[in-house]
Amino acid sequence: MIVLGIETSCDETAASLVADDRRILCDVVLSQIEEHRPYQGVVPEIAARSHLDHIDRLIVRALDEAQCDWDDIDGIAATAGPGLIGGVLVGLTTAKAIAMVRNLPLVAVNHLEGHALTARLTDGIAFPYLLLLVSGGHCQLVVVEGVGTYRAYGGTVDDAVGEAFDKTAALLRLGYPGGPAVEAAAMRGDPTRFALPRPMAGRPGCDFSFSGLKTAVRHAVAALPGSAADPDSADDLAAAFEEAVAEVLADRAANAMARFRDEFPGGDQFVMAGGVAANARIRAVLSSLATAQGMAFIVPPAELCTDNAAMIAWAGLERLRLGLTDGFDFAARPRWPLDALAAPPAPAP
Ligand code: KG4
Ligand code: ZN
Repeated sequence: MIVLGIETSCDETAASLVADDRRILCDVVLSQIEEHRPYQGVVPEIAARSHLDHIDRLIVRALDEAQCDWDDIDGIAATAGPGLIGGVLVGLTTAKAIAMVRNLPLVAVNHLEGHALTARLTDGIAFPYLLLLVSGGHCQLVVVEGVGTYRAYGGTVDDAVGEAFDKTAALLRLGYPGGPAVEAAAMRGDPTRFALPRPMAGRPGCDFSFSGLKTAVRHAVAALPGSAADPDSADDLAAAFEEAVAEVLADRAANAMARFRDEFPGGDQFVMAGGVAANARIRAVLSSLATAQGMAFIVPPAELCTDNAAMIAWAGLERLRLGLTDGFDFAARPRWPLDALAAPPAPAP
């Protein structure tokens, strides 16, 4: 079985073909970074227009790269939310048109489910597992019990962790996009020069908070001579910020691991996913935590942590295998929490 996946929910136009034996036949990602750079952030109208300009050719390129024909495809999956609605509409409408013309099943995929199931594509792991989902719009600890069955142990009470990276990059004038810029600066910096808070650390539960950390960075910058960060201070602050984030994520994840193992005796898989999971320092700290707790640490390669269409094709494939397809009346959703997903019907007795 081969599924075409389409991803257009933010600033990447992407198409991918994935087979049910976990082979990624092609994974084409077109970044819009240069189009948004002058604004230091994603402009929704520019994003939607750019998706529309490129999606057709990108899909043809995906078929070419995979050396596939339309007749080889068994289903079409597209991100149907959450995300910037203009972009989501472009991808979902394209998918509906192809499915209609080719008489193929359509799967409307939740973008977060794409991130959540990527570890099953890359590592073939079984359910259940504990997931730390860290992206530009989300920061959650989630139990993944099956396709469509997600239960949050906790989430952020204010900013998402990727958002905190992006805002910190802006405060430190490190450029856009923020996450990779902070990571590069942090590698040059000294994490001990500035003392930043560890919001929520040591408290019971699995919730996160990042707005205080961002404010602490702002105060630290304001206290510098000239109220702006010189390159060395920017590097040191980036390093201190990254370290604080890594420690907070590990502190909250440790609580989630204890709860997970209470609920699932023998449960020993800890997965990280989403754009921030591309960060090498955060990967290292959470990997050590998992090892110390006797859990296997599974994280997809960086290019499958940030937005891509292989994860959408794979989530579509997982749903298709269970007979979970969607109608052409499926409406794009700007908001769509992971734990609101319908569980698949119970198998017939
Ligand atoms: O999953 P993703 O590509 O898109 C969303 O679904 O949001 O995540 C994007 C987020 C951005 O906030 C970006 O700054 C962050 O992931 N990010 C990183 C790194 N690469 C991307 N954060 C820290 N370190 C990185 N290397
Ligand atoms: Zn994402």
